[in-house]
Amino acid sequence: MSKARPTVLKIGGSVITDKSVELKARTDTIDRLATEIEKANVHNLIIVHGGGSFGHPRAQQYGIKGGLKDDSQKIGFAETHHLMTVLNGLLMDALIWHAIPAVSVTPSSVIVTKNGRIQSFDHASIGKLLDMSFLPVLYGDAVLDSELGFTILSGDQLVAMLATQFGAERIIMGTDVDGLHDADPKTEKTAKLFEHLTLNELKGSQSRLGKSTVCDVTGGMFGKIVELLPALEKGVPVTIVNATKPNNVYMALKGERVKGTVVGDERC
Ligand SMILES: Nc1ncnc2c1ncn2[C@@H]1O[C@H](COP(=O)(O)OP(=O)(O)OP(=O)(O)O)[C@@H](O)[C@H]1O
Ligand SMILES: [Mg+2]
Repeated sequence: MSKARPTVLKIGGSVITDKSVELKARTDTIDRLATEIEKANVHNLIIVHGGGSFGHPRAQQYGIKGGLKDDSQKIGFAETHHLMTVLNGLLMDALIWHAIPAVSVTPSSVIVTKNGRIQSFDHASIGKLLDMSFLPVLYGDAVLDSELGFTILSGDQLVAMLATQFGAERIIMGTDVDGLHDADPKTEKTAKLFEHLTLNELKGSQSRLGKSTVCDVTGGMFGKIVELLPALEKGVPVTIVNATKPNNVYMALKGERVKGTVVGDERC
């Protein structure tokens, strides 16, 4: 049994799907990432992936995040959850094909939220999986909510909670841009990359960060940063890298320097 503190890796839905085309998975990218994860061979790894064009459009269409207002939304809740299991299956196929002992943990079966925030989380199975050197894989999901009926739990909120719960050593966020910029790099060509930010610097720049230019019910880059604050406040450093570029995830997992943004690691 490894005693290393876990690493939490988020693989953005923006990486493994084409967010501009509903239900378009990037299977070549999924396979490349599985290769990089296999090669890096990090002990005590937890993976969380986002929804991309599988999760977000249907959730938006049925207003799932805002909760149950009308029974006609129920099929939307079921579809959103189901589509996430389909995307999860594609990643699981690739990881297992690469001989990685990855085990999918369904967030909506172990988590209930209250007004969108995680209220209860049955983490025993994930702890046991880690103890046994399995690689737990979770994802942003449509979950039940004690006040709203149901809602959307972002992969980003899940990342921070898992990192805090399991005393993670670090968080690596793979997304489709080179890191955190002073404006959205997809719409502002002169946007400048932050290579390193302390937690205080991050809090100061928060209001200037943008949302997502494509369909994203969980708030794009701004939502991501807000969600990561609890883990950052617990001293878990976050590295944001562009996971659409080959080798970045491998290098980040190996602790090598990659173009990107490091938040909160005072050693940098
Ligand atoms: N200040 C900023 N710095 C970097 N990216 C930004 C900024 N403001 C907005 N963005 C946008 O945020 C997007 C990343 O967030 P998004 O939620 O779309 O991806 P993701 O979290 O990887 O995907 P998913 O939510 O499906 O997991 C980038 O593609 C970028 O266009
Ligand atoms: Mg997102």
